Amino acid sequence: MAFRGGSLLVLLVLAAAAVASGESERLDLVPAAPGASMAERSRADRLRYAYITDRLASNRGGTRRAAAEVGASAVSLPVSSGAYAGTGQYFVKFLVGTPANEFALVADTGSDLTWVKCHGTGAGGASPPGRVFRPADSMSWVPIPCSSDTCKLDVPFSLANCSAPASPCPYDYRYKEGSAGARGVVGTDTATISLPGGKMAQLQDVVVSCSSTHGGQSFQAADGVLSLGNSKISFASRAAARFGGSFSYCLVDHLAPRDATGYLAFGPGPIVPKNRTPAAQTPLLLDPKMPFYGVKVEAIHVAGKALDIPAAVWDAAKNGGAILDSGTTLTVLATPAYKAVVAALTTHLAGVPTVAFPPFEHCYNWTARRPGAPEIPKLAVQFAWSVRLEPPAKSYVIDVKPGVKCIGVQEGEWPGLSVIGNIMQQEHLWEFDLKNQVVRFKQSTCTR
Ligand SMILES: *[C@@H]1O[C@H](CO)[C@@H](O)[C@H](O)[C@H]1NC(C)=O
Ligand SMILES: *[C@@H]1O[C@H](CO)[C@@H](O)[C@H](O)[C@H]1NC(C)=O
Repeated sequence: MAFRGGSLLVLLVLAAAAVASGESERLDLVPAAPGASMAERSRADRLRYAYITDRLASNRGGTRRAAAEVGASAVSLPVSSGAYAGTGQYFVKFLVGTPANEFALVADTGSDLTWVKCHGTGAGGASPPGRVFRPADSMSWVPIPCSSDTCKLDVPFSLANCSAPASPCPYDYRYKEGSAGARGVVGTDTATISLPGGKMAQLQDVVVSCSSTHGGQSFQAADGVLSLGNSKISFASRAAARFGGSFSYCLVDHLAPRDATGYLAFGPGPIVPKNRTPAAQTPLLLDPKMPFYGVKVEAIHVAGKALDIPAAVWDAAKNGGAILDSGTTLTVLATPAYKAVVAALTTHLAGVPTVAFPPFEHCYNWTARRPGAPEIPKLAVQFAWSVRLEPPAKSYVIDVKPGVKCIGVQEGEWPGLSVIGNIMQQEHLWEFDLKNQVVRFKQSTCTR
């Protein structure tokens, strides 16, 4: 198949009657592994946090680092780090190629590259077990040449090696500990998403990377990653551009039964036009070189009282700041914020018997809690424009097993980033309006 490097940024929707009428496109979002223990999720989040901070650090270093230049020890990968996938994340059904093959992908706002487990790319490596994408069998697959700007500038961790200009764009993500990584080539193909009512919409020339080697045992449940990050080549920005500039998701309770699903929608969310209660909105802080969705936190309140947290913690210019991340389970707070939140919550819960439940630091035996003992105080995160996220108590004092609740935030680094994870976002509808650079949110049961 011929290269079409120049035309790959064209999006076309073939079967989109619903789109023309201004409706948005919705896909089911299913909690990936309801059975995964909170301890597993917590471990996975640690790796995730390492990836995010590494990526930020490499950005601060000035130039984008290619894996080939820094060697195996340096770069962590977005989604390819099977190390953290498949435990506390949300899956979406996604069809790639012609004829279309169905894959279960992790919906990941921290990723700029969509990838699927692959076979027969010529990139080397043994073919993984389970479902794989075979680009050679897809009539619509077009490799992106390594000499193209897309390869050189937009594909994270693309290899510097491009001896023949027409050869496919190679990339190599490796995880820090060498335990996981993904290697493969990047191309474009047709993506098909199924719409409510059985309709299908096709998007052509979607950037997909074909990952022929990847590590990480826990990645077995997922066939790859759907990139919802802010990047020219991410699926989110491409689909959002086509469907009105925004995408949204609603995450059901991570402990919800298997048949409960949230959704991922492209197009103006139900938040804006159809709802009488206005959604809260706050600016999205976007960095062209990073896929992450930054938000400006102004304060955290516990039981109505603003906690004493230095302003620098929320200031990206001072190596603080916060992002919203669908791929992190437990919220990570930079040390000063973590300490303040934990101090406030433990003070309020002082009358409840504690119990050890590592890796969590503060857990309570809720069965042994006496009647009249203190309730979980309300926590609110205040964002710029003075809007507040008021998550349900179960989103920050979480059920780790029957009768046991733990403070479900983890300590990050300081200086360092804070990450608002998916448990803190659950039972809310989040609309990422990329066009206007705002994020809107509102409480929701995620039913349609
Ligand atoms: C570039 O890639 C080719 C094909 O994989 C390989 O044979 C060659 O050794 C690589 N060159 C460098 C400088 O890494
Ligand atoms: C919680 O307390 C109850 C009653 O005192 C006790 O039976 C139970 O074993 C405790 N649970 C844990 C996890 O320690």
